[in-house]
Amino acid sequence: MNIQAEKLIELVKERHRPKNRRAKFICVSSGKGGVGKTNFSVNFSWMLANRFRKKVLLIDADIGLGNVHIVLGVSADKNLKFLMKGADIKDLIQTYRGIDVLLGFSGIDSFRELEGIDTVTVINKLEKIADDYDYVIFDAPAGINENVLKFAVSSDITYVITTPEPTSVTDAYALIKTLYKLYKFGSIKLVANMCRNKNEGFSILERVRFSCESFLEFRPKIAGVLPDSYSLKSAVRKREPIAVLSPQDAYVVALAEIVSLETGEVLKETSAGFFEKFKKFLGI
Ligand SMILES: Nc1ncnc2c1ncn2[C@@H]1O[C@H](COP(=O)(O)OP(=O)(O)O)[C@@H](O)[C@H]1O
Ligand SMILES: [Mg+2]
Repeated sequence: MNIQAEKLIELVKERHRPKNRRAKFICVSSGKGGVGKTNFSVNFSWMLANRFRKKVLLIDADIGLGNVHIVLGVSADKNLKFLMKGADIKDLIQTYRGIDVLLGFSGIDSFRELEGIDTVTVINKLEKIADDYDYVIFDAPAGINENVLKFAVSSDITYVITTPEPTSVTDAYALIKTLYKLYKFGSIKLVANMCRNKNEGFSILERVRFSCESFLEFRPKIAGVLPDSYSLKSAVRKREPIAVLSPQDAYVVALAEIVSLETGEVLKETSAGFFEKFKKFLGI
């Protein structure tokens, strides 16, 4: 990594960590692409906002390949390109299904446009609004490059997602190794996605953890295991979060546990759930 990039990371880190900061910054990363980061970020944000009543800002930080707008079904017209042209950051935020969404780089289709975006400007503007939120979630790009690292090390917690595929496990470990060895960043939580069952997921996560303990002398936390879900694929096709379309799906139930662990709060029964049970009790 070049000196310029390292300076940027320091700057982001400093700026994002005022002592009395209210918002918790969460980065969702992976190493390998296509492991479910965007679906995780969108549904995690939806749950924080709608089930846990938190104020959430979801940022698509996947430079060049951002697709939060597809999973969430919002237009890609408002993106960070307009920030560089002097737009107010608040005008670029779209509220959708209770989540405030900032489409970082979606809808930017040429490298020339991408080059015009200066991260420091973005961070400065972001800093001004971050305190309005309980959580700021970054859907990070895949790979191990400075774009991922600057979001990951600046966050309070970075989720690293893997699937049972060996290539995905290897890439997740490589990302953790870089975060820990180069940046002493250890605030990492592991998630296994697209698993056939809990055992498969936990044994993969234990293996990653074992490698971390053996070679890095560091023990990342295990956040949870998410199943392979047909409903999720169908939700993506319909451009709606699975948490909205299939709230009873095993993926959503497992994700709710992860979110609950994150907030430290037990999920309260919704009134709909209460009436459903009450009617069942009364036999109506
Ligand atoms: N738990 C899951 N079960 C089934 N398919 C999944 C699951 N998570 C992700 N996918 C599939 O993988 C695709 C890529 O997911 P996405 O969230 O866009 O990954 P990433 O952001 O890491 O590239 C989705 O469109 C969906 O088809
Ligand atoms: Mg993605």
